[in-house]
Amino acid sequence: MQEKMIIQNSNTSPPWWKKTTVYQIYPRSFLDTNGNGIGDLNGIIAKLDYLKDLGIETIWISPFFKSPTWKPYKEHDCGYDIINYRDVNPEYGSLETLDMLIKEIHDRDMKIVFDMVLNHTSIDHEWFKESRSSRDNPKRDWYIWRDGKKPGGKKPPNNWRAVISGSPWHYDKKTDQWYYAAFLNFQPDLNYRNPDVQQEMLDLVRFWLKKGVDGFRLDIINALFEDEALRDSPLTFKLFSEDMDVFFKSSRMNLNHPDTIEFCKKLRKTIDEFHDPSRFMVGEIMASIPTIKKYLGKNADGLNLSFLFKSLNLTMNAKKVSKLIQLYEKKFPEPFIPTWVFGNHDMFRRISKLKGRMAKSKLNAALQLTARGVPFIYYGEEIGMEQADVNLKESRDPLTYHFSWIPSFAHSIIHKFGQSIARDGCRTPMQWDDTENAGFSLPGVKTWLPITPSYKERNVAAQEKDPDSLFHCYKRFLSIRKKTPALHSGNLKIIPSKELPKNILGYIRSFTDQKQEQDIYVLLNFSNKTIRFMAPRTNFELLTSTAFNSNPFQQNGEMMLTPWEGIVLKSTR
Ligand code: GLC
Repeated sequence: MQEKMIIQNSNTSPPWWKKTTVYQIYPRSFLDTNGNGIGDLNGIIAKLDYLKDLGIETIWISPFFKSPTWKPYKEHDCGYDIINYRDVNPEYGSLETLDMLIKEIHDRDMKIVFDMVLNHTSIDHEWFKESRSSRDNPKRDWYIWRDGKKPGGKKPPNNWRAVISGSPWHYDKKTDQWYYAAFLNFQPDLNYRNPDVQQEMLDLVRFWLKKGVDGFRLDIINALFEDEALRDSPLTFKLFSEDMDVFFKSSRMNLNHPDTIEFCKKLRKTIDEFHDPSRFMVGEIMASIPTIKKYLGKNADGLNLSFLFKSLNLTMNAKKVSKLIQLYEKKFPEPFIPTWVFGNHDMFRRISKLKGRMAKSKLNAALQLTARGVPFIYYGEEIGMEQADVNLKESRDPLTYHFSWIPSFAHSIIHKFGQSIARDGCRTPMQWDDTENAGFSLPGVKTWLPITPSYKERNVAAQEKDPDSLFHCYKRFLSIRKKTPALHSGNLKIIPSKELPKNILGYIRSFTDQKQEQDIYVLLNFSNKTIRFMAPRTNFELLTSTAFNSNPFQQNGEMMLTPWEGIVLKSTR
């Protein structure tokens, strides 16, 4: 019945990317099909049916382009430093494999999103090699080069701060100048003030769009332009700010520059050249909501979406969650839409912040998949993959080496507080089954990062068999979301807290078009106690619950939610 509830009126039907659910794959860690301990594109192809069955609609893949992964791990960023944007790194496959991947995804009626690292290249990119070769090389101006501070030139050109702390300027002996890198020293920033650079990168975007790519995740997009005169960062009254002002130093000279925001509109025009189907971009912007809104454009003519990272550390508490939903509702009303993000390849895994608790994670999934917004699920979240405590000596993350001055005991303390400097712990291989190497790679192969110890219980094969697993909870919610216009396209109203018991958060998702009116009630129990209360109304149908054997309807119109249970109800009026 519900399958037929297709919205007929195209005026009310949002574009596909507003309704979709995105799953992020870190290709190095998904599935290794050639036994080298590293995941590959064929591995992703092999698991597309799994993702389809789970109910995923869009797949974002972290970079698999040519990058200097032959170097020691501390000298490259596993794909976020590219040497050829139009080719595949051989350890992941070839252009043919990539074409096949795009086709196989589309054949399953799913979408594919690439991760575009527009801000910087690898230090080993031919462009940079040329650029650094002499001051008058034609590619010199493709990067940002300056003399050091006078007198002597032995100090960085200005007082800017890199995103990861320290100076973003690096001295290059050969031409006795400094180059700028917003992130790590081997990731030199392209100079977007050079029209040739802009042209090249916009052409690149078109190149992939023509190949059928459905969207882009834009890596540190807020670092694209810097102050043209490279003026010093001014002081601010803020010790820290969401816009990355640090220790009273403003970041506005090298982050979130107005020209970056303008360029995002150019990017939008470029992707809008492709209509059938429409394409989208989601920006990685570590900034305050007012800044993020500038990227989206007053008239929604900028980036289609931005990650919102406030949810990363969201406390599982009805009041706090309600506050965040209300904030997003206020700041991102139609035609804007928030995003719901709980993890990615840089962040401490959410379930470990929830102390490994499956029940809480189910509720977290219920929130993510029923609140208004585009959900981004990070691989392994659906089976409760935990943050691994990878030995620092085995770290594969260049940031670990950047922060090598931090003693290892401090890393452990930070880890206990649900944070991490090294990003290895959230990048360990996907756990497919309980065999050696968790089915990620053949037994006996040394995997690029160790397998997280809890893989014996937390793996796909085990959870597929258990209808009460986290995996099946995700699957139920993804399926209901897809079938239910109010959940993927409706508006949201919070049920006033005084109408519900303490610790229960409720909201109504509503959708109306010429064919139908739909009111979907979501009730979430943010406590470890069973709660009974009078139902807000009596004529409900249970669509799904985080609990497999849910029985929320009690006698006399009473309702019952078990600890950390979340339910979705359809009002039948
Ligand atoms: C982004 C990526 C991160 C990468 C950095 C530099 O923050 O998410 O993994 O290291 O940009 O490209």
